[in-house]
Amino acid sequence: MIIAIDGPAASGKGTVARALAAHFRLPHLDTGLLYRAVGAEVLARGLDFSDVPAVARLAASLEVAGLDAEALRTGPVGEAASRVAAIPEVRQALIELQRSFAGQPGGAVLDGRDIGTVIAPEAEVKIFVTATPEARAARRYAELSARGEDVTPQSVLDDIIKRDQRDSSRSAAPLIQAADAVLIDNTALDKAASIARALEIVARRTGAV
Ligand code: CDP
Repeated sequence: MIIAIDGPAASGKGTVARALAAHFRLPHLDTGLLYRAVGAEVLARGLDFSDVPAVARLAASLEVAGLDAEALRTGPVGEAASRVAAIPEVRQALIELQRSFAGQPGGAVLDGRDIGTVIAPEAEVKIFVTATPEARAARRYAELSARGEDVTPQSVLDDIIKRDQRDSSRSAAPLIQAADAVLIDNTALDKAASIARALEIVARRTGAV
């Protein structure tokens, strides 16, 4: 069973994806980490984001094993990820890796922006997780300020709105709800309720409990 979870920044899609993967004992790939790793490397090497061949080469040589999720979850790296993710050559370089992860025997859970639309349109279950920008910004603010980042609620909200806009308006695999995806708006739901809703969706679609 392939489960595709998409949604905008800080929507809680990772939480839902990890919970479903644990519940159904499926491998899980947080595809945002791939774009974050490329973005972090562009920053670390001082490359120009407009140097498409160089940025695409970084994406093509990316090793998934050993990605440091914690180190990649900073505000500046999220912004850099969104910039490299708008480059078609970067997306192309990362497609095969994601498709082969999705296609492994037994299936997998993947979360990102284009899993249900581009990476695994054949997924048995597609869920689009979202919440209002304000609710998402409040969660991301709590996360980043707990890590000691110098942010304000307003700066985080501004960043989220900017990133949503870039992710939704790009021509290459824009963030969009697949026609056959089920929506979870978790603005007023806590973590447990969001996960329960996702489990119901899987059960309804596939009979798996
Ligand atoms: O955790 P958060 O939702 O803030 O970000 P993420 O899922 O780690 O993704 C970081 C950035 O990577 C996003 O803003 C997207 O631009 C990009 N991304 C993408 O384009 N396609 C994916 N499948 C996953 C992430």
